[in-house]
Amino acid sequence: MVNRVLMWAAASPRLQRQVTQNPVARRAAHRFVAGERLDEALDAAAALASRGIGSILDLLGEGVTDLSGAGAAVAEYEAAAKAIAARGLDARISIKLSQLGQTVDRDACVANLTEILDQAAAVGVPVEIDMEDSSLVPDTVALFRDAATAHPQTRLAVQAALRRTPVDLEALASLRPRVRLVKGAYAEPLEHAHQGKAEIRAQYRYLTDWLFEHGSDPAFGTHDDELVAHAHQAAARAGKGPQEYEFQFLYGIRRDLQQELVDSGHRVRVYIPFGSAWYPYLTRRMAERPANLLFFLRALVGR
Ligand code: FDA
Repeated sequence: MVNRVLMWAAASPRLQRQVTQNPVARRAAHRFVAGERLDEALDAAAALASRGIGSILDLLGEGVTDLSGAGAAVAEYEAAAKAIAARGLDARISIKLSQLGQTVDRDACVANLTEILDQAAAVGVPVEIDMEDSSLVPDTVALFRDAATAHPQTRLAVQAALRRTPVDLEALASLRPRVRLVKGAYAEPLEHAHQGKAEIRAQYRYLTDWLFEHGSDPAFGTHDDELVAHAHQAAARAGKGPQEYEFQFLYGIRRDLQQELVDSGHRVRVYIPFGSAWYPYLTRRMAERPANLLFFLRALVGR
C-alpha cells in the first residue's frame, strides 16, 4: 500500500513542485543525494575515495521532453567527466538515455550518447548506462550494443525482475558485456516482470552465474546480503578473486556492508546522484524501504 502511494507520488508533478520547493525537504534529501551541484558530487566522491571506495556520478533527471533539456545534460556530463579526470578520482559517469532525448528524437539521443562516450573516453572516464522502465529496454539494449562496440568499457544496467533480461543478455553474449546487475526499481506489470521477492532473487542468482561465465568484470548493484553472498560463491566457483568483480551501492545506503567488503579486499563503488531533479529518485528509494519515508518525514518536521 505504502509502496503504491509512493510510486504514485513519484509520478505526481504537483507534489513534486511542493516538495522540491521546500528548503527543509531539500536538506533531508541530502541523506541520499550528494547535492544539487557537480562540485558537491565530486566532494562526495573524494570522501569515498579516502575510504577506498570508487564512485559513479549520476546527474539526476529522466524523461526530458525537449532537446534543450537533453543538451544541458550532455554539457553537465562532459563537465563531470573532465572534473573527474582533473581531480584524479576513481569515478565513472552513469547516464539515462531518456535524459538524452530517447523518447523525443532518437537520432538526437544517439548523437548525444556518442558525444558523451567520445568526450568521456578522451579523458579516460568510463560510462555506464542505467536501465529505465520496460518500454525503453529494447532500444536501450540496442544502443548499448553500438556503444560497447565503439567503447568496450561501457557498462549496462540490467534488471533481474524483468522476464526478458536473460534473452537480452544471451543476445549480447558475443560482446562479453560489462553489466551492472540490479533487481529493478520500476513498477512493472505481471506480463513483463516477476513480482515476488523470491522469484526476483532466483533470477538475480541465475544472472549472477551467467555473468561470471559470459560477461566481463561483472558488477552487482544490490544491498541484499543474500545476493552479495551468492556473488561471492559464484566468483569462487568461477575461480575469480575479490578484485575481479565489483559491488555497487546507492549513496547513503548500507555503509556498514560497503566497509565490510572493502575491508575484506573487495572492489566497491558508490552511485552518487546529484542535481536539482532529485524528487523521482528519492521517492523510488522510499518505495523500496518505507523506513526511509519515516526518516524523511521526521527531518521535515524537525524531529
Ligand atoms: P532490497 O530492496 O531487497 O534491499 C535489501 C536490503 O538492502 C534491505 O533489507 C535494506 O537493508 C537495504 N536497502 C535496500 N534499499 C534500501 C534503501 N532505499 N534504503 C535503505 N536501505 C535499503 N534500478 C534500475 O531499475 N535501473 C538502474 O539502472 C539501477 N541502477 C542501480 C545502481 C546501483 C549502484 C544500485 C545499488 C541500484 C540500482 N538500481 C537500479 C536500483 C535497484 O534496481 C533496486 O531498486 C535497489 O537496489 C533495491 O534493491 P536491493 O537489491 O538493494 O534489494
